[in-house]
Amino acid sequence: MNIGIIGAGAMGSGIAQVAATANCNVNLYDTRPEALAISQEKLAKIMNRLVEKERITAEKAADIQANINYVESLETMAQSDLVIEAIVEKLEVKKEVFSTLETIVSDQCILATNTSSLPVTAIAAACKHPERVLGIHFFNPAPLMKLVEVIPAIQTDQAVFDQAKSTIDSWGKLTVEAKDTPGFIVNRVARPFYGEALRLLEEGVADVATIDWAMTKIGGFRMGPFTLMDYIGNDINYAVTETVFKAFYYDSRYRPAFTQKRLTEAGYLGRKSGRGYYDYRENAEKPMPNQDETLGQKIVDRIVAMLINEAADALHLNIASRDDLDLAMTKGVNYPKGLLQWADEIGLSTCVSRLDDLFEEYHESRYRCSPMLRRMAKWGRKFYPET
Ligand SMILES: NC(=O)c1ccc[n+]([C@@H]2O[C@H](COP(=O)([O-])OP(=O)(O)OC[C@H]3O[C@@H](n4cnc5c(N)ncnc54)[C@H](O)[C@@H]3O)[C@@H](O)[C@H]2O)c1
Repeated sequence: MNIGIIGAGAMGSGIAQVAATANCNVNLYDTRPEALAISQEKLAKIMNRLVEKERITAEKAADIQANINYVESLETMAQSDLVIEAIVEKLEVKKEVFSTLETIVSDQCILATNTSSLPVTAIAAACKHPERVLGIHFFNPAPLMKLVEVIPAIQTDQAVFDQAKSTIDSWGKLTVEAKDTPGFIVNRVARPFYGEALRLLEEGVADVATIDWAMTKIGGFRMGPFTLMDYIGNDINYAVTETVFKAFYYDSRYRPAFTQKRLTEAGYLGRKSGRGYYDYRENAEKPMPNQDETLGQKIVDRIVAMLINEAADALHLNIASRDDLDLAMTKGVNYPKGLLQWADEIGLSTCVSRLDDLFEEYHESRYRCSPMLRRMAKWGRKFYPET
């Protein structure tokens, strides 16, 4: 297959590596020649490391590199079967690129965007043939993250969707289908992991080290919310939260926290700036968690109840299927269990009463229980009925 990739930044370079590893012929384009040079250098380093670790042979590494052409003209996209755009996250710029692309590629070529937060439908609308446009959302780093969300726009042809999905599957990825709504699956359902942890911190229920300890040691998550936010970067995480909040017409459930905004304003961006929720500077003292099991369990119960509620609501609103929702959270962000499976294990009535208790206490709509969760609990149903 001939694959065109636009934008040779973190994502475009990673996607190019994935496609090249699957023996596709890749044209990687960027408006900045230096971005192409950096991308090529980085790939060479990655390939050397993989050969050293004996993950791939030197011959395979050479093939992968030879499969990628670093191109400085969009015209080279003419022979593409599929073009994936991974440029700057600005709607107007993406629209312009898509409408130009359409004048270059064949009628059969599928056009995809890797956007994290823009409406795929609005990007498709810039094209004369919007039925060939869809979202193909890889996670960072694309070569390592197994999950890919595939998002049909309102205008997308079913055949285009099927073809794109099976192409990405053939690259060894795990694809899930998501509706074109803010945050798709992962960036929507994961919001309470950060948001509720921040609430607990702001209310003084526990400090960052204790919340992280509870979520990893008791909750079984690979990383605590504050450690993870410091990894992602507070500026990035804040921007995603704010975008999702605005895109949901200011639904209070997604409201960003002042703590996060202030840290961003202070330049405490996390690991990359040496300081975030934790201090990464040399000789900085590591805060110790309060390892009180009862407190820890309370923290986990509250955050997990909110995550389950978000997943149940996404199912309720047909954002994705039950299986895709659980797959997305276990494979996309390494949650210890699918949230709907977890709800069954906890018991749906228990989940409902945890949320109702929070709602009763705060009278804030962020704690409203999803109608689906309540209905299923009332009927004594499970998300995964035993057969
Ligand atoms: N970084 C992530 O974690 C992540 C994860 C999933 C999706 N995304 C999405 O992927 C896209 C790219 O993100 P990134 O992190 O790789 O960005 P990046 O800044 O690392 O790279 C973007 C590249 O696009 C190039 N570019 C800008 N305008 C262009 C144009 N008109 N034509 C061609 N090239 C152009 C830039 O020169 C740059 O090299 C965004 O839509 C982002 O939302 C990012």
